[in-house]
Amino acid sequence: MVKICCIGAGYVGGPTMAVIALKCPSIAVAVVDISVSRIAAWNSDQLPIYEPGLDEVVKRRRGKNLFFSTDVEKHVAEADIVFVSVNTPTKTQGLGAGKAADLTYWESAARMIADVSKSNKIVVEKSTVPVKTAEAIEKILSHNSKGIKFQILSNPEFLAEGTAIQDLFKPDRVLIGGRETPDGQKAIQVLKDVYAHWVPEDRILTTNLWSAELSKLAANAFLAQRISSVNAMSALCEATGADVSQVSHAVGTDTRIGPKFLNASVGFGGSCFQKDILNLIYICDCNGLAEVANYWKQVIKVNDYQKNRFVNRVVSSMFNTVSGKKIAILGFAFKKDTGDTRETPAIDVCKGLLGDKARLSIYDPQVTEDQIQRDLTMKKFDWDHPIHLQPMSPSAVKQVSVVWDAYEAAKDSHGICILTEWDEFRKLDYQRIFECMQKPAFVFDGRNIADVEKLREIGFIVYSIGKPLDPWLKDMPAMA
Ligand SMILES: NC(=O)c1ccc[n+]([C@@H]2O[C@H](COP(=O)([O-])OP(=O)(O)OC[C@H]3O[C@@H](n4cnc5c(N)ncnc54)[C@H](O)[C@@H]3O)[C@@H](O)[C@H]2O)c1
Repeated sequence: MVKICCIGAGYVGGPTMAVIALKCPSIAVAVVDISVSRIAAWNSDQLPIYEPGLDEVVKRRRGKNLFFSTDVEKHVAEADIVFVSVNTPTKTQGLGAGKAADLTYWESAARMIADVSKSNKIVVEKSTVPVKTAEAIEKILSHNSKGIKFQILSNPEFLAEGTAIQDLFKPDRVLIGGRETPDGQKAIQVLKDVYAHWVPEDRILTTNLWSAELSKLAANAFLAQRISSVNAMSALCEATGADVSQVSHAVGTDTRIGPKFLNASVGFGGSCFQKDILNLIYICDCNGLAEVANYWKQVIKVNDYQKNRFVNRVVSSMFNTVSGKKIAILGFAFKKDTGDTRETPAIDVCKGLLGDKARLSIYDPQVTEDQIQRDLTMKKFDWDHPIHLQPMSPSAVKQVSVVWDAYEAAKDSHGICILTEWDEFRKLDYQRIFECMQKPAFVFDGRNIADVEKLREIGFIVYSIGKPLDPWLKDMPAMA
């Protein structure tokens, strides 16, 4: 029986391995992690991450050919294929701080693999890593190998949170990069055979190592760039009276452009986009490509601009001050159908409003109070470390309350900010909400999900990103 071990039981390691176990009953899959609480959760009824369809897949295979364990060394030693899906945070100190990837966790995983291995292994990079990481890992493994042979493959993951299971069942492509040597090609074939259990052969792309590593960074940079492009347009739409939804529809029907990833919003978030672009920028800088680096920097700058613009719209609409005013925040996760808050735009929007002394009442169907308080107190980039190594929040932010109901959040508030596109926010009884709010009552829709006409009929003053402005907002500049 082929044995797979995956180091890192996070948003990537957990779902990908669960799907491999489901699709390949003849393969034994162990997912290991240094976080005891995470593994305990994977072995319980309350999985550590929320992802539609994940519960069912895990329940079907757990204890059969899918195992979650903290015994990292035992499972790595026994495995034929070792996936590494650990955190790759942005460095906060030293060379490349604020841009380069911190490969501490990757390196310690590689050293441990070399230490405990007694048989040849294929080591698969699943984490998103800078170009040429495989080469570094190869060096660590081969210099500590005691005669054991390791083949390194790059197999970046393209799943999107919120649709991870569907993405894994039917991937647009699976990408496998390896050495162009006979042993490298053999290793590629072994991994290809795993995916071939359910992925059509023409969707399994093979490349050299560096192309696979760079393709992942490039794909995320292109996706984020589309969002920044449409968000830049949204600012222009507000200034001119055009409607960004109409513009993006007209643009997206061009088959060369396509309709996806063209929704204007308060900005992109998630653990990957910013981090991967920063990585790309760092690699460009290191290679003397300042113009290319500056081009990609702009994608992040527009994203920050969009979040600031949103905060300024809220503050300027409310007579230029939100001091002491209650504002309801609907949605904190970085997108719907996930409880993940890493780099969510809600953090910057909330911090911006708190900076103007607002009182916030936050509701998200999947995010806990503890998580929100951590996010609002943690330093930039500190979030991307194994949970047990993250700093505890020193003290809760007093002006923030977290509630379990959108109506409770909105009660007595002056305004509502919709920051995540949860389906339930489309179906709220906005008449009921209006009646229990202070007047004038505002809705700031950061995801363009509200029915603007209906809300205006009820009596709300509505700001919707990139849409013709409410007369109330017309003479108020979005940016000071
Ligand atoms: N989240 C996504 O949507 C996504 C998509 C594609 C790629 N990626 C990439 O995949 C990688 C993992 O992302 P994630 O979202 O799953 O992160 P995550 O933080 O959810 O999971 C990483 C896990 O690795 C564990 N870990 C760290 N060092 C370890 C070690 N030495 N031994 C054992 N376990 C260790 C941590 O405890 C943590 O549980 C990152 O490089 C990320 O950029 C993420």
